Amino acid sequence: MVKINRTFVEGLTLEEKAALVTGHDFWFTAAVPGVDKMMMTDGPSGLRKQADDADALGLNDSVDAVCFPCSALTASSFNDDMLMQLGENLGIAAKAERVGVLLGPGVNIKRSPLAGRNFEYFSEDPLLAGRMGTAYVKGVQSQGVGVSVKHFALNNRENQRFTNSSNVDERTMREIYLAQFERIVKNAHPATIMCSYNKVNGTLNSQNQRLLTRVLRDEWGFDGLVMSDWGAVADHVAALQAGLDLEMPGKGAASVDEIVEAVKDGRLDEEVLNKSALRVLRMVAKWQTKGAVESYDKDAQHEFARKLADDSIVLLKNEHGELPLDKRSSLAVIGELAARPRYQGGGSSHVNAHQVVTPLEAMPQTASYAQGYQLSNNVVDDDLMAAAVNLAQQSQQVVYFMGYPEEMESEGFDKTTIDLPENQVALLNKLVQVNHHVTVVLQNGSVVAMPWAEQVNSIVEMYLAGEAVGEATWDILTGKVNPSGKLSETFPLRLADNPTYPTFDSEQNEENYHEGLFVGYRYYDSKQLPVRFPFGHGLSYTTFSYHDLKVMTKDDQVQVEFQLTNTGNLPGKEVTQIYVGNRVSKVEKPTKELRDFVKVSLEPGESKTIRRTLERRAFAWYNVTEKRWEADNGRYEIYVGSSVEDIRLQQSFDYELGQDPLQKVTAETYVADIVNHQSPKIKAALEQTGLGRQLTAILQSDSAQIFENIPLRSLVMAYIDPQVVRKFIELANA
Ligand code: GLC
Repeated sequence: MVKINRTFVEGLTLEEKAALVTGHDFWFTAAVPGVDKMMMTDGPSGLRKQADDADALGLNDSVDAVCFPCSALTASSFNDDMLMQLGENLGIAAKAERVGVLLGPGVNIKRSPLAGRNFEYFSEDPLLAGRMGTAYVKGVQSQGVGVSVKHFALNNRENQRFTNSSNVDERTMREIYLAQFERIVKNAHPATIMCSYNKVNGTLNSQNQRLLTRVLRDEWGFDGLVMSDWGAVADHVAALQAGLDLEMPGKGAASVDEIVEAVKDGRLDEEVLNKSALRVLRMVAKWQTKGAVESYDKDAQHEFARKLADDSIVLLKNEHGELPLDKRSSLAVIGELAARPRYQGGGSSHVNAHQVVTPLEAMPQTASYAQGYQLSNNVVDDDLMAAAVNLAQQSQQVVYFMGYPEEMESEGFDKTTIDLPENQVALLNKLVQVNHHVTVVLQNGSVVAMPWAEQVNSIVEMYLAGEAVGEATWDILTGKVNPSGKLSETFPLRLADNPTYPTFDSEQNEENYHEGLFVGYRYYDSKQLPVRFPFGHGLSYTTFSYHDLKVMTKDDQVQVEFQLTNTGNLPGKEVTQIYVGNRVSKVEKPTKELRDFVKVSLEPGESKTIRRTLERRAFAWYNVTEKRWEADNGRYEIYVGSSVEDIRLQQSFDYELGQDPLQKVTAETYVADIVNHQSPKIKAALEQTGLGRQLTAILQSDSAQIFENIPLRSLVMAYIDPQVVRKFIELANA
């Protein structure tokens, strides 16, 4: 391999350099003398490598590969170690197939339950999305395969995704939509970032210099390559100038010619071209694996897919000890999704699965099956329904499979409803009339409405569980595995309760993020709005207790410590969640925000001391005026719980490692902020000028609240000498 450096690039012809910054075709970079082409391909939940020459959409059958659970499910594991192992498995597969860069993970925030690609994204919360993405990236890259973290940024809807503008305020963008990318870039150093199709505040992301260069590179220190999403480049010259290094896929000679001409007629500085060409070459040099494809242990990967699903599946409801199933009971398995399961999403993440095991194939020998409904339409089939109801009537327990048909959710378009197909709901309403031991098993890529939830004893959320969906289903239902997944997104009672309703997807070219910071649980929890199942919720077959919370400052960090006990009679895992509520900063803020979590295994009766450290950022908000993250000293609430609603321990805490929220006293500063904020400097200034005594007198009068709510410049209304106020301000800022 030649030595890749600036000298090498300068030795290339203009045409060769122009060829490097655009895809050779759908999946390969261009070759130049001394450097071969390199393949990159999807996807987040399994390798989608074209088996032969790609067709226009690259949707030919891809090579045989293990299909892992979708990201909506894997995030529900809240298990960094499992996500790293997922990355390792994907890296092994990609390397064996000579793929240099795997196009994933997708880490966009789930803003609306209707968004078509939510199955492919981790969470509504940026910390969870960032932690899962970081572990995944480290896993893949540990195998010598690069990743492409996507889609940068604010790609939160599918309809008109090539032109639609995500319009958002700066603080929301920083705290909600960029934070997971920032965490991954800084902690996992991904090989590449994939810019998204959409615009942000009117600027197309493929030519958004602020995002691609000033934020990503200058602020976060990203030193990898930025590629476009497929077909996202509208103006290749503008894209290069904005910091987009590689247009995918290439447009053949047209792409080369447009760059060559732009350099020749001075519209594009050759230095800009050289920089991107060098980044492409460095990516190839670092991640390309040469030689013939190799085999790898797909059966072992299938077993991991099962284990990952087992660790992620969420037990949403379980009453009257319905689950685990009683081996002695006669069991009815109902629903065509048992025979034809949804186990992966549609679009670019689609995998030619190695070995799908359906719930029907893996069900207990003693169980009986009835199709119940046609997946291919919404219409009730009377004969199928009657047979299913009859079977339920004769059985002691029922497991009923419900979910979205493939046609309802995929990349490329958004959903129009979160209701399940009528024929499935109609059958449920019949089953619960003849059997009081119904468990619903859901196969869905995203939130579903469950108006029937009260009518069944148990509900298990499988999402799209990958090719081992059959084994994993029964691992959980029979109790072979104790469920430990937690929801990475809120399930609202109704779509209309979601803060993006009714404006989501309502304009062709503008998507306005009216809700600001209040996405997902940040909205429902702050509004105290009841939901079907809250963020972070998930049951176990055992129980856990929390006690002895201690919050303390240690050096320049905050330490949270508590005891966790398994109070049941089965081994289990609990995802303990730590939320922080900012009670001091004078800015809009949710009641509480997830700031840490850890998954803990406990034997029956076992206790563990959980000790976690919260960094400064856990107390910070993004100050748009000062263009920096700000953590204000003062009062915070620390919550420790089993979901955002199921808070087991809580403690107020005075944070002292940040900055004085009253950094500067001015004539506009309110009296209340002065008297409630007695830093030594303020105290001394009040004492020295005598203003303290005057304010005390006023604030003991009947009009105290009125005077607390006035700025210093208006104290003349209390006959306080403006000179005294001016002197106080001077001393307070000294
Ligand atoms: C698609 C997707 C992207 C994928 C790429 C290549 O349109 O948006 O996630 O990696 O094109 O298939």
